[in-house]
Amino acid sequence: MLTAARNEMLTRVGPGTPMGELLRRYWQPIAGASELDSNPIKTVRLMGEDLVLYRDRSGRYGLIDRHCPHRRADMAYGWVEDTGIRCSYHGWLVDQTGRCLEQPYEDTTSPKPSKAGCETKAYPVKECAGLLFAYLGPLPAPELPVWEPFTWRNGFREIVLADVPCNWFQCQENSIDPVHFEWMHDNWGARMRGADANVAPKHLKLKFEAFDHGFVYKRVREGQSEEDRYWTVGRVALWPNGFYLGSHFEWRVPVDDENTLSVAWFFVRVPKGREPYVQERVPTWVSPLQDETGRFITSHVINQDIVAWAGQGRIADRTKEHLRSSDIGITMMRGRFFAELEAMAAGKEPGGIIRSANEAQCIALPNMARELNTDGLTLAEFDKDPILRQRLKEFRHHYGQPAEVRREFVEAMGISG
Ligand code: FES
Ligand SMILES: [Fe+2]
Repeated sequence: MLTAARNEMLTRVGPGTPMGELLRRYWQPIAGASELDSNPIKTVRLMGEDLVLYRDRSGRYGLIDRHCPHRRADMAYGWVEDTGIRCSYHGWLVDQTGRCLEQPYEDTTSPKPSKAGCETKAYPVKECAGLLFAYLGPLPAPELPVWEPFTWRNGFREIVLADVPCNWFQCQENSIDPVHFEWMHDNWGARMRGADANVAPKHLKLKFEAFDHGFVYKRVREGQSEEDRYWTVGRVALWPNGFYLGSHFEWRVPVDDENTLSVAWFFVRVPKGREPYVQERVPTWVSPLQDETGRFITSHVINQDIVAWAGQGRIADRTKEHLRSSDIGITMMRGRFFAELEAMAAGKEPGGIIRSANEAQCIALPNMARELNTDGLTLAEFDKDPILRQRLKEFRHHYGQPAEVRREFVEAMGISG
């Protein structure tokens, strides 16, 4: 249980709030680069700030104030040029550093036009593995961490976004919550398919460990032992707002205090025999969360998670909860946030930030499934593994995979649709 004041501290993300300032110290995934292929401008709301993301005609990315520095028109209705984005109201041109390059009327009529003081807010953007990451903190920006899976080759990658109607922190608490797999995914999943009993192997033992880039949780369930990789390796609650499960990442990116952009990145190595495989473009799609009656879709794994997150309310009231031993990881995570917030208030840099380019270029994380992704498998071996076999059959993580993404996947894997 937390006091209301401590709960506020964890959940408020606007500019100037302690948590907002902490999260701004880390690169945040905000979009898929392929989203800008059909329209090079996308509106983005991030930690309470309204922005536009764009790719100019030279291929540079920009993330700037949604409102024009002239008289605040909506830059989302502008257009991109070789050196930046132009407002459609009076034609001011702004670049990715926020500099105003042109003010057409002044440039035409004034003998010495000056743009001093007309800069707009701008944040750096970097592309990696098909994702676009933004940095909203004080400069100089730290290095963008290139997690090892971003360097894997011969794989089919896809990015799935979802607009989750609740605060980011309850989503992130789910990254360190092993017992929910047994109930939310296994038992509830079985109930929805008509089962009349709880069929899932019970959790018998949990362990949580902290490291630089987050926490690892380990577990033993019925039918498993401490020899199992679920115990010897575990899974990663990625600091500060991610989750890493071996072949995919999920981030919970705050839109504002009451909304979160779920950004998930998936990798499936193509079977041996399909290599070398080079994916030209990483597809990005948005998973719908509700059916036509307004009820949450519950058929897919992350959709089920979202039922839990949103069900806790727009901002979960942690003054009313009852934490037990299954929640030790949650307490550890909150504890680290409070400690980091205190350190930041004392002028220190929070943990897990990388300043060395060398270190940032390939960061390994604990991974139960590394060889699957680095060494590969034959199609026959895929077929022997129940999870991989399922993975080839259909995309189970998010509802609504578009037919063309499925087609690209099938083609990459060399299987029939
Ligand atoms: S408001 Fe954008 S150019 Fe005038
Ligand atoms: Fe889950």
